[in-house]
Amino acid sequence: MSKEEKTMPRRKFLQIGIGGLGAAIGLSYVGLAGDFLLPAAASAQLLQEVGKISDFPVGVPKLMIYKGSGVEEGMYVTNLGDEGWLALDFHCTHLQCAVNFEPALQQYMCPCHGGVYDLKGNVLSGPPPKPLIRRVVKVQGDSVFLGGRLT
Ligand code: FES
Repeated sequence: MSKEEKTMPRRKFLQIGIGGLGAAIGLSYVGLAGDFLLPAAASAQLLQEVGKISDFPVGVPKLMIYKGSGVEEGMYVTNLGDEGWLALDFHCTHLQCAVNFEPALQQYMCPCHGGVYDLKGNVLSGPPPKPLIRRVVKVQGDSVFLGGRLT
């Protein structure tokens, strides 16, 4: 076997390895960009049944707790009667504390810095810079389904 016969396969192996590594890195960036650009649109399609209409009395937000990507997530789902349905992420838009609903006031209160939101998640007072995040909520038949972020 000549010296050239021995070195060619090694060179070819390195070329293929470097090319494969470059392709893998490139694909991971495409994947990251896709996750970054499309989370709302993609997750909006992933509807999950959370109960029956009768489980949601009109005007009473119901807290739904679930495990997200390793952390506890939560949504308040409200049947607004003639105004439709509303699903609000329970994280305050200031520094992400979990808000609590106060039935007597019909308001969401943040225990961390005093942020206050109305029943529809609009900021009434305190430091939150924007309304609570809305999520997809749909009713099909007598079942209620939730999906990803809308805002
Ligand atoms: Fe809610 Fe600061 S985290 S007001």
